[in-house]
Formats: sequence, C-alpha cells, structure tokens
Amino acid sequence: MRSKIVAGNWKMNKNSADTEAVLTELSAKLPDTQAEVMVAPTYVNLAGAVRTLESSVIEVIAQNMHFAESGAYTGEISADMLLGINVETVIIGHSERRAYFGETDEILAKKVVAALEKNMRVMFCFGEELEDRKSENHFKVVETQLKNALFSLDASAWSKIVLAYEPVWAIGTGETASPEQAQEMHAFIRKTITEAYDASVANNVSILYGGSVKPANAKEIFGKPDVDGGLIGGASLVADDFVAIIESI
Ligand code: 13P
Repeated sequence: MRSKIVAGNWKMNKNSADTEAVLTELSAKLPDTQAEVMVAPTYVNLAGAVRTLESSVIEVIAQNMHFAESGAYTGEISADMLLGINVETVIIGHSERRAYFGETDEILAKKVVAALEKNMRVMFCFGEELEDRKSENHFKVVETQLKNALFSLDASAWSKIVLAYEPVWAIGTGETASPEQAQEMHAFIRKTITEAYDASVANNVSILYGGSVKPANAKEIFGKPDVDGGLIGGASLVADDFVAIIESI
C-alpha cells in the first residue's frame, strides 16, 4: 500500500544555524501522524540535519545528486556521499534543476538509475509549464517526462520511487493547481503507469502534489483520492506552517 508523505524542499535557503533551529522546532512540534515526514536542506547542511534529527522520525533527504559514482565532476555529489551520511532518499528532476541547470530527461534517467543501483529511494519531480497547460498539452508533457525518465525501469524498481507532480506555473507563484486539477492529473498519472506496467505498480506508488501548498489549501488538496501528500517549498521553511500542513494530511 502506498504511503502518505509530506516533504519540505528547502531549496537554497537557511545556513547551518537556521537549519538546526528550524529542525529542532519542527521535531518538537511534530504532530502525531501516519504520514512520512521528510526535509531536504541544502547539501552543506545535510550531515548536521541528520545529527539534529537523530532521534526524530523526520527523514533528511537530498535535493539532487550526480549520476556518476565518483570522479572529475567539480561541485557535484554522489549517491555514496549521501549514503555515507545516512541520507537514503534523493529528489531528482526538480523543475528548477531542469530550467536553470540544463537537466534533461536523459540526464534524469541516468540519475534515477544511479540512485536505484545504490538502493536509494527516488522522489522524482515533473510537471508542465504554463504554456503547456494553456495549449492543453499538459497531459502529453507529463506522460513524456515519465516515459523518458522512468518507464525503462523494471516494475520491481517502483517500490523505491515516489512521484511529485509539480506544475511549474504553481511553484513559488502563490498560484496553486485547484484540488480538482491536481486530482485529474494524479489520476492520469496512475492510468499512464497502469498502461506502462500494471495496476499494482500504479496503485502502490505515492504521488505527491507540489506548488504553492500552504496551511490554507493543504487539506483540500490532500483530500483528493489520488493525492498522497505534498512536496512543499516556501511554506516548509517556517516550522509552524509546515506543522500545519502535516496536520492537514
Ligand atoms: P513552493 O511550495 O514554494 O511553491 O515550491 C514547491 C516546490 O518547488 C517544492 O519542490
């Protein structure tokens, strides 16, 4: 059965002191929940975050990794480096990586394989741009993103995949997909996976929604049957807001 997940993507925010302070507050205020709670601080604060959350159920996850094992890739981080500090889940394919750092479907497919080979869990992000939705191409775009990066995987690999549908037009804009739009896309994603694999793979994968989720709208979005939680940007930076979102699930 798929799990409920609420994850905070901190992007390039918070120094080490702020990271420790917010995680300590978050851990103290964490509500009783069936959902898995995850936080992705920036690379340099990952090891410290793992230490801060040593006795907490909150999982520290990474925002990105390189596909190579090691070598001459200045500025990059490998799966083994993450595993070496007990980070076992990695976000791959965030739209900001695609847009600002040239990460193509082909690169992302290699990253997914590299993470899975190390038995890491992958939170794979994808979603259409505003023009795609305006031209009613959003289903096709999403299907292509999934196909290019994930549909060469064996069915068994899907137990280590979490999907995060993040329409680019809703990220950091204050504009959210309506709960109906999120449900419509999540149902489409499950149908697409059923066609590529089978209903069991589709029904067991958690599909998160991301894009301007706030305490005020989380409950309605999370209430939809194919929405298994959220990947939260801005609102995860403030412990009380993130706690309120976790309480909504
Ligand atoms: P916001 O919640 O700030 O819109 O960011 C969403 C996101 O990109 C999470 O990965």
